[in-house]
Amino acid sequence: MKPWVIEPLSSPEEINAVLVVEEASFSNPWSREMYLAELENKGISFCFVAKDDNGRVAGFCSFWLVLDELHINNLAVLPEFRRAGVAASLLGRVIKEGTALGAQRATLEVRRSNDAARLLYERFGFSIASVRRAYYTKPVEDALILCRENLGHAHQPP
Ligand SMILES: CC(C)(COP(=O)(O)OP(=O)(O)OC[C@H]1O[C@@H](n2cnc3c(N)ncnc32)[C@H](O)[C@@H]1OP(=O)(O)O)[C@@H](O)C(=O)NCCC(=O)NCCS
Repeated sequence: MKPWVIEPLSSPEEINAVLVVEEASFSNPWSREMYLAELENKGISFCFVAKDDNGRVAGFCSFWLVLDELHINNLAVLPEFRRAGVAASLLGRVIKEGTALGAQRATLEVRRSNDAARLLYERFGFSIASVRRAYYTKPVEDALILCRENLGHAHQPP
């Protein structure tokens, strides 16, 4: 599979590319102001982008590191780059970075109907920890809280 270049989001200009991915992927996309605030929140808020050979941003993953927990806020890939391993590369890198910074577990929320994301996270060892009823809007839907413990131990995908 193509080796995507995974790098930390490094500048306010790169936020433009992340916003394009957000808008193509979510019904409630995060705004520029939200990302600018995240960039300022150093040591807690992190964002990695995946680029192709030409430096085009294909996807991104943002997360918070709070004590020993890595919380994935957003993970998305431009539609034309999907099913090419971008999200898997991002997730692998984010787990590695979080683990190196002391994370023991990872958590995230996902729409119940989001089969693509649920299958991806399952492959990375996540399982359902709880449900938040009607958590999402546009459309209203339950969130599944997924968790993976023992981040430092290699997970063997099925
Ligand atoms: C979910 C998403 C991030 C996956 O990105 P991606 O780069 O296409 O995923 P990858 O190519 O790395 O897929 C890795 C594995 O995840 C699973 N997977 C990903 N997309 C899938 C799909 N549409 N259907 C079934 N399985 C899927 C497969 O197991 C896949 O491995 P395989 O291709 O060898 O079968 C992408 O579909 C997306 O951006 N969706 C909209 C935003 C979103 O829902 N984000 C998640 C919020 S929690």
